[in-house]
Amino acid sequence: MTTRAVVAGCGHYLPERVVENAEFEKTLDTSDSWIRTRSGIERRHFAAEDETTSQMAVNASRAALADAGLTAQDIDAVIVATSTADLTFPSAATMVQAGLGMEKGFAFDVQAVCAGFIYALANANALIVSGQASRVLVIGSETFSRILDWNDRSTCVLFGDGAGALILEAQEGDGTVEDRGVLSTDLNSDGRHKDILYVDGGVSTRNTGHLRMEGKEVFRHAVEKLAQTATTALGKLGLTGADVDWVVPHQANIRIIAGTAKKLGLPMENVVVTVQDHGNTSAASIPLALSVGKAEGKIKTGDLVVTEAIGGGLAWGAVVLRW
Ligand code: UT7
Repeated sequence: MTTRAVVAGCGHYLPERVVENAEFEKTLDTSDSWIRTRSGIERRHFAAEDETTSQMAVNASRAALADAGLTAQDIDAVIVATSTADLTFPSAATMVQAGLGMEKGFAFDVQAVCAGFIYALANANALIVSGQASRVLVIGSETFSRILDWNDRSTCVLFGDGAGALILEAQEGDGTVEDRGVLSTDLNSDGRHKDILYVDGGVSTRNTGHLRMEGKEVFRHAVEKLAQTATTALGKLGLTGADVDWVVPHQANIRIIAGTAKKLGLPMENVVVTVQDHGNTSAASIPLALSVGKAEGKIKTGDLVVTEAIGGGLAWGAVVLRW
């Protein structure tokens, strides 16, 4: 028997305020048509002024707990993937713990920017297979609207806010690729590329800063590295793109999503796409897409799912799981 980290439930939360591309035409030299054709984004949600990353994470977690038929007392670890925590410390995860009324377990944040949820999933899986936790709440939650430069048309039109949550629980499997749960992971980073996507401020530089990106450069790395990491994660199992039911990619740009699917030999019918409605929500984009994909009846029990993401660092990776 092999211990597997199996998805017990998922959920998401999106802030009420929806901003259509056309809104940006009022303040910037941009157009709905440029944003749509270059990125695939049509609209995004922005958090209210007093709405925080941990509050959104709590809302998504409540939805995931309801989906799983569990209560917060059934959870023994909370991981929040975020680059936009409410405060410098404590972690957003401990705030979620308190927000859900948990009185036991442990909680911590993971910061790998847009790849954060992949890193969090891999860590949750490691905690479960090593016996350190039996039910882990894994959340991606971001308020990127707080770090956008509203005068920079090349970045501020691309991002949005939101949260998604997954509950992984320990179940025994046969040790084959037919098992439900996380089957393989592949994590990578290369700090030599830190200057093509970063925030120009932080705690030790005394200002919050704004997101800066050399979009074309990131794009170039993205398609190649995403296809490579997904192929590596599948290869560890002796599988290829042909075995995959659903690719659930980081939702940054429809052209990156399509380019990666093509390299994996998969038609777009096998890809969950939410970028048109959410924009790039960084670490929240994959759990949001998983939750929407399930709610739309696409992802079903037993399906082989590949998730992949890349972001600042650069940091990138993939997780293969059977839903
Ligand atoms: O989540 C982390 C990972 N991030 C990503 O994966 C993002 C990766 N990059 C991208 O998605 C794309 O590179 C962008 C959507 C950011 C940009 O698309 P692009 O096709 O690479 O465009 P570009 O940066 O080469 O810009 C083309 C033109 C430029 O004008 P010139 O120099 O050709 O005259 C830009 O100034 O488009 C201009 N431009 C805009 N025009 C209208 C840039 N932003 C805008 C805008 N509206 N919002």
